[in-house]
Amino acid sequence: MATTDQLKGKVAIVSGAAQGLGEAFAQALSAAGANVLAFDVQDKMVEVGAAIQQSTGNSVYAMVADVSSRADVERVAQAAQDQFGGLDVLVNNAGTWRRTPVDSSWEQALADWDFIMDTNLKGVLMLSRVCVPLLQARGGGDIVNISTYYVLPAKSPGTNQPDTDLYNASKWALNAFTDDWSKALAKHNIRINGLCMGATDTPMLRGLFPSGELPPDMAAEVMQPEQIAQQMLDLLADGRSGENIGAWVGEPVQIPAPAAAHRKVTG
Ligand SMILES: NC(=O)c1ccc[n+]([C@@H]2O[C@H](COP(=O)([O-])OP(=O)(O)OC[C@H]3O[C@@H](n4cnc5c(N)ncnc54)[C@H](O)[C@@H]3O)[C@@H](O)[C@H]2O)c1
Repeated sequence: MATTDQLKGKVAIVSGAAQGLGEAFAQALSAAGANVLAFDVQDKMVEVGAAIQQSTGNSVYAMVADVSSRADVERVAQAAQDQFGGLDVLVNNAGTWRRTPVDSSWEQALADWDFIMDTNLKGVLMLSRVCVPLLQARGGGDIVNISTYYVLPAKSPGTNQPDTDLYNASKWALNAFTDDWSKALAKHNIRINGLCMGATDTPMLRGLFPSGELPPDMAAEVMQPEQIAQQMLDLLADGRSGENIGAWVGEPVQIPAPAAAHRKVTG
């Protein structure tokens, strides 16, 4: 896609769209003229979808669905076909986390592994698998994987919250999907990129604090979901593939110059 104008009349799916970044992605895509299928495991998705449609005047189809369920992601893809006639953009946003101290019980560690990986990784795999044929049928399209700044090469001296190694591992693995799929699906004109943001003001970030509110100094400097949503629109307009795009608190949120092309290396 050359400009965000070209989102007019396109179809986008956003997972985990009932709040936070997902809601902002759905809102931005809808405002840019796309028909949006927004789904979330939370029931409030229905009201949030109606509010987005009301504010933009473009069609939003809201569904309650769990990305970690194969039956549910099949339902979502079918709905994109039935409601809007296909798919052009998939935003793999739904994500979750838990604190898992390294000395936690086996029971906790394995339960947290399943809980996190089933959504952050298996969910992305399954939703993408059902969506790729729809993108192929259109002659191409975009997949945007929502990762985290922490898994980019160390530019920032920051760190994610303590005891979030399972969450971090899920996002490192997501980067592998981004990289491998960008190579494998290039022949179908399907672009895959990752957005890797730092602290952004959402219910997930607020949930890190017992009060449910950000400390005032943090609230003053964290990024807003709308900034990341604009970055996503700029990424779609840019047309590159196979990159992780970072966003850091205190720095301009933008699309950097393209990275060097993949080199053919065997090893
Ligand atoms: N907020 C940040 O600072 C930040 C930073 C880096 C990365 N991220 C990533 O951005 C994405 C969105 O995060 P957020 O901060 O908006 O979080 P959030 O918790 O506020 O929103 C996530 C949404 O995903 C939904 N969801 C969770 N599991 C689901 C499932 N199995 N099926 C369908 N929906 C499901 C939740 O119900 C929720 O509405 C996540 O992938 C997260 O890891 C967030």
